[in-house]
Amino acid sequence: MKIYFQSPQVTLYQGDCLDVLRTIPDNSVHLILTDPPYHATKKANITGDRNFKTDRDYLEWLDTIAEQWQRVLAANGSLYCCASPKMAARVEVMLEKRFNVLASITWTKPNEPGYDGWKQKTNKESLRSWYLHSERIIFAESAAGEDSKLPAFGSLIKKTRLATGLSTIELTEAIGEYGSVNHGGAVSNWETGRNIPTPEQYQKLKAAFSKFSPQVPELPDYEKIIRPFSVTADIPYTDVWDFPTVKPYPGKHPAEKPLDLIAHIIKASSRAGDVVLDCFAGSGAVGRAAKMLDRQAILIEIEEEWCQKIAQRFSKPSEPLPKVNKPAFDLREEPLFQVLEHRNPM
Ligand SMILES: C[S@@+](CC[C@H](N)C(=O)[O-])C[C@H]1O[C@@H](n2cnc3c(N)ncnc32)[C@H](O)[C@@H]1O
Repeated sequence: MKIYFQSPQVTLYQGDCLDVLRTIPDNSVHLILTDPPYHATKKANITGDRNFKTDRDYLEWLDTIAEQWQRVLAANGSLYCCASPKMAARVEVMLEKRFNVLASITWTKPNEPGYDGWKQKTNKESLRSWYLHSERIIFAESAAGEDSKLPAFGSLIKKTRLATGLSTIELTEAIGEYGSVNHGGAVSNWETGRNIPTPEQYQKLKAAFSKFSPQVPELPDYEKIIRPFSVTADIPYTDVWDFPTVKPYPGKHPAEKPLDLIAHIIKASSRAGDVVLDCFAGSGAVGRAAKMLDRQAILIEIEEEWCQKIAQRFSKPSEPLPKVNKPAFDLREEPLFQVLEHRNPM
């Protein structure tokens, strides 16, 4: 294991990610965005894709890595882990032991005519099942240690409230923020992670806790505990994504992810200055997008060939940031939806 390349924004390690992960401090990474060998695809040109005899061996290996992810991911952190459609369900179940899984995104991998690869060449009539032409990206957040279904933020609020001796209703009354359905609704929704407080509501929470129990330690700053997540109607905000695959070019990584897909994740799930980690860097797409978006990147790649290519890319002037595609279908922009919403706002 060695540092192969370093700049103010990017550190690239060459080595086994497990060895490097063990050197990364606890709670120091805001976003883990990574694309492990898929195992199911058994590609000879991707290191690790053929390492495991059985699916169980693969999942056990990935779980030792996930254990480190759990340790290094900050309380407000997000995890995006790519998986093949064949393995995704089992990878998700494995991750669920350590994280609060929020979505399994389907990337439909559209390609332009002429770049269809195996899909075009396959003899359709000889298929015995549906041609696999999508990938999954499992999206999860840091969970409270004792309950992987509870986000770290919800758990902290709940523990602090219990330490102050306030009920959800009493706390709701103290801050004057009521849920639309039941009286303690706002606080309950925050505790279960269904919702997050606004910065103003969070200040009221802090004030209420210190008023009722000055001996209870103060809540951390908003940004340190609330997971960033920002999407709008203008970008893909559903769990089905249509980013075109990377067209072949000399020196392309066989599993290279589109830069706009990576940038989309980084923009939605991190803040400027945050630390983004990719344990299986390949072409270094995560590092490139992180740098363009003013985040810090930690990249790990086992193969010298790819480390060399990544380092070469970072030595050149920065590329322009790709524009994120508009969703192919946006319900809110449909005339029918607009008429209905006008008549009967949701
Ligand atoms: C699926 S590819 C990642 C492709 C990458 N997302 C991109 O956009 O180019 C997986 C990469 O992980 C690397 N790899 C495999 N096992 C590794 C390990 N134990 N530690 C670090 N890198 C590893 C492989 O060499 C390969 O480049």
